[in-house]
Amino acid sequence: MRVLGIETSCDETSAAVLEGAGDDARIRSLVILSQDVHRIFGGVVPEIASRAHLTAIVPVVEQALADSGMGSNDVDAVAVTNAPGLVGALLVGVAFGKAFAFARRVPVIGVHHMEGHLFATALENAAAVPPFTALLVSGGHTLLIDVEAWGRYRLLGRTRDDAAGEAFDKVAKLLGLPYPGGPHVERIAALATTSRANDGGGTGGALRFARPMLRRDQRPGDAEYYDVSFSGLKTAVLNAVKSSPPASEAERAPIARAFQDAVVDTLVQKTARAATAYGRRRVVLGGGVACNGALVAAMRERFARDGVDVFAPTPRLATDNAAMIARAGLFHLERGERSGLDLNAFAASPIPGLVAA
Ligand code: KG4
Ligand code: ZN
Repeated sequence: MRVLGIETSCDETSAAVLEGAGDDARIRSLVILSQDVHRIFGGVVPEIASRAHLTAIVPVVEQALADSGMGSNDVDAVAVTNAPGLVGALLVGVAFGKAFAFARRVPVIGVHHMEGHLFATALENAAAVPPFTALLVSGGHTLLIDVEAWGRYRLLGRTRDDAAGEAFDKVAKLLGLPYPGGPHVERIAALATTSRANDGGGTGGALRFARPMLRRDQRPGDAEYYDVSFSGLKTAVLNAVKSSPPASEAERAPIARAFQDAVVDTLVQKTARAATAYGRRRVVLGGGVACNGALVAAMRERFARDGVDVFAPTPRLATDNAAMIARAGLFHLERGERSGLDLNAFAASPIPGLVAA
């Protein structure tokens, strides 16, 4: 099957052509147009995002088809993100996808954006398939999911407040760094010379923030065992900045490092709890924060002793892209599922296929 994927949930207009069956499906083309305009506002402006998707969607799809060497006649089905995200942005992709499917007389399937992220790494690594423990960390979401099989998900943990990427972006702002902040925080954190403080160890007087929602007395079944929270950490950064305002990159570096260490340690330990509880031998990361080298390295270090493999997507597939949407759509299409032409967009919606934890 050849699936045209479309993604417009936030500030990337993306189209892809995927060809094949199940886990053997391959990316024929992938076009991602990032809306740079939001940088001047320090965050995504929903109305501007919708308008930018409108002007970009046709050329982006045309480019994806051209790159794949196919015409619109060769597409067997359309998969489009219809939730969750910015409704006005989602609607552009949904309206385009339905119109394309109607005109070409092919089926259309609505895809949950976060289910797309679960499939992303498998597109470039044949071993990143269920069963696995998934940690999805993006600008809008932080989800810890046990993936027993494609389409069978246990939602174990989520953030109580800010998403991991959102915390990176807000801390970047506090440190006077550009948006999106994640890569900038990572870059200056690497300038700090102190070593990473693992589970509660000292850093020889270096700045250290408490690990949020992480206590040894937490047990499976406790509400806090898998959940995370980053807003307190953001306040800790704010207090550090206020108490001695950093005047240079060298002075910002220890703060960025202490923040990143706290986020990374928390995510690693929560993920380890999930992998252990369900006896998983694979951990799959996804979302923009999975681009963070310190996070990936700490995950690999933690799991190496258990012989558990850690898979992280390359940046192109970690951040929002239509190839993962086409792949998740293909899974549902192969099960005989179809959406109607009344397919709508939703700002929030639970990931499909949830089973009790
Ligand atoms: O998945 P994504 O592209 O978009 C959403 O669906 O939100 O994730 C974007 C987020 C931003 O918050 C960005 O700051 C963060 O991913 N990010 C990073 C890094 N690269 C991107 N966070 C930490 N370290 C990075 N290297
Ligand atoms: Zn995303």
